Amino acid sequence: MLRIENLTMKFGGVVACSEFSAEVKKGQIVGLIGPNRAGKTTVFNVITGVYKPTEGRITFEPREGEVHELVGLSPDRIAKLGICRTFQNIRLFGQLSVLDNVFIGSHLRLKSNVFSSVVRLPHYVKEEKEIYEKSLYLLEKIGLQDFRDEKASSLPYGMQRRLEMARALATDPKLLLLDEPAAGMNPQETMELIEFIQDIKEEFGLTIFLIEHHMEVVMEISEHIYVLDHGVLIAEGSPGEVQRNAKVIEAYLGVG
Ligand SMILES: Nc1ncnc2c1ncn2[C@@H]1O[C@H](COP(=O)(O)OP(=O)(O)O)[C@@H](O)[C@H]1O
Ligand SMILES: [Mg+2]
Repeated sequence: MLRIENLTMKFGGVVACSEFSAEVKKGQIVGLIGPNRAGKTTVFNVITGVYKPTEGRITFEPREGEVHELVGLSPDRIAKLGICRTFQNIRLFGQLSVLDNVFIGSHLRLKSNVFSSVVRLPHYVKEEKEIYEKSLYLLEKIGLQDFRDEKASSLPYGMQRRLEMARALATDPKLLLLDEPAAGMNPQETMELIEFIQDIKEEFGLTIFLIEHHMEVVMEISEHIYVLDHGVLIAEGSPGEVQRNAKVIEAYLGVG
């Protein structure tokens, strides 16, 4: 579904990512791990069009036979093709209600243009209603229906993380990119998060590319793992293979 080939991203003299290649197959959960500043978030920023890579190719195949070259497309276009992400630091509209946060996510999928929304043409009103119902459904799915009118910023941390994912899901993504979803969570919240990710993957037929600093999370749910260190791929394989890899152990102990 996603193929990254020889990706290099330089920021001035800093090589955030160097000749990185990876593949995410349809229906998989693939992990991307590595110490701080290894270049993980940079990979997501390049996939989603935030940065244009110095070199390399990225192709996305949302449906069989429909291949898009992502490099050069705008973030908005890439999102519309079916790639959505969450951020390492939560980015919700804190002052808006829980429901409105999801509702806004859904608007990305709205087919009607601005004109029809202003004059409220019938198909627009119908779409609005569908989006409203879908937003409610997603809230129920993540167990936040009772909090729909609360301010997003008033929710505990673990719930905010789930809300962020619901907002991403509202855009009907094919590929979901999660940047350190367990960051700042306690062990209980982390356990729940692992289950939640597996649940939404099944329910919405998602493919997931997951960045995690915490080994235990990524080991638990990934089928395949890529390990970056200083922008370079130092290992890849199954969780078991990666865990036993000497270079990986060294990279982690080095920062530990
Ligand atoms: N916009 C940017 N401008 C300059 N340097 C950047 C930028 N984004 C990332 N970097 C640098 O790239 C390296 C990798 O960062 P990042 O991808 O955020 O790592 P990770 O997510 O693995 O912690 C770091 O040295 C970071 O300072
Ligand atoms: Mg990061």
